[in-house]
Amino acid sequence: MTSPADLDLPEGVEATPLALLLLGRQSDPDSERGVECPGDLPAASDPSLVARARAAKDALGERVFVLGHHYQRDEVIQFADVTGDSFKLAQQAAARPDAEFIVFCGVHFMAESADILTGPEQAVVLPDLAAGCSMADMATFDQVEQCWDALTDAGVADGVIPVSYMNSSAAIKGFTGRHGGTICTSSNAKRAMEWAFDKGEKVLFIPDQHLGRNTAVLELGLSLDDCVLYNPHKPNGGLTAEQYRAAKVILWKGHCSVHGRFNEATVTEVRARIPGVNVLVHPECKHEVVLAADLVGSTDFIIRTLDAAEPGSAWAIGTELNLVKRLAKQHPDKQIVFLDKTVCFCSTMNRIDLPHLVWALEQLVAGTVPNRITVEPETARHARQALDQMLSLP
Ligand code: 13P
Ligand code: SF4
Repeated sequence: MTSPADLDLPEGVEATPLALLLLGRQSDPDSERGVECPGDLPAASDPSLVARARAAKDALGERVFVLGHHYQRDEVIQFADVTGDSFKLAQQAAARPDAEFIVFCGVHFMAESADILTGPEQAVVLPDLAAGCSMADMATFDQVEQCWDALTDAGVADGVIPVSYMNSSAAIKGFTGRHGGTICTSSNAKRAMEWAFDKGEKVLFIPDQHLGRNTAVLELGLSLDDCVLYNPHKPNGGLTAEQYRAAKVILWKGHCSVHGRFNEATVTEVRARIPGVNVLVHPECKHEVVLAADLVGSTDFIIRTLDAAEPGSAWAIGTELNLVKRLAKQHPDKQIVFLDKTVCFCSTMNRIDLPHLVWALEQLVAGTVPNRITVEPETARHARQALDQMLSLP
């Protein structure tokens, strides 16, 4: 594998230490992904997997609560007690104080948030530790601290409120709590940013530049020029003190590689292919894609919109493929297609498959807690302030 040091980068640009990690059998506890998954997994071809998952879940009864994110595979979603977006799943985790085990079918930052929001005697289990999020990896704690130093040097840090997307590590949520900020998800980013502007003069939005830009410009009416892009791989983020002073929103240079695939050409292509199609995209898509679309919203908004859509209507959806396929199956009276012609699942969401779920549940039945996700108490305390702030947004 090429090491970051071997890369021929332009002057002033530093390589990220995380971007080249492979999924699967690696070990890097600082990363959202690439952590080894121990244990002998049942074979994916084992015909008894569904029955085994059911039997293990029945044996655990009320002791276990299974949460499933909308982007999870159908084979896993069928065992979820609750399905939802990351906001609803955080709420649900907090509302289950009696469950001994929370099995989180989602990705690592969601499981960390569940651990922060649940009691110390409750164990949060992530069936595959390699289920991280490449976007969350794009902001490390040290990089965010460096950014704060740059804001301090520019003389603006006192008026900056951090708004961190749920898709970030617990350490960054802790940073956010320590600096009086809030967490947000794609379903409440507008309210989170409004709240932050009531409290301060500027917002530092971490790590998804697209959600931050789409919210600032399309929901709050700011201009593109009010936003600057902080590049963690450049000295001072690649910005001057004057740019920090003039900006209203400082966007972190991170993005989702799944939603980043959609572009204006994919929107033009689907409109030509399906006359009258409605294009509905997630706000993690690029600004120009959102502008070219008819509607934009969180996974929850996408689901509600399709539930309410007229029979016979046509929809091209720009979000993760597991959800789009499920929606197409649930609405046979509507034409629902994936916005891109190329198949693209979120590879880390897809790490949680039926063999991993069966393995995790059977371990719990046997009295072992596998793949427990825990957040160090001091980090958890500050992260909880930022998560509680989100949960109490008006
Ligand atoms: P939601 O906040 O809509 O659940 O999305 C989470 C996510 O990872 C989107 O890529
Ligand atoms: Fe992360 Fe994108 Fe996957 Fe969501 S879809 S978990 S943001 S990589």
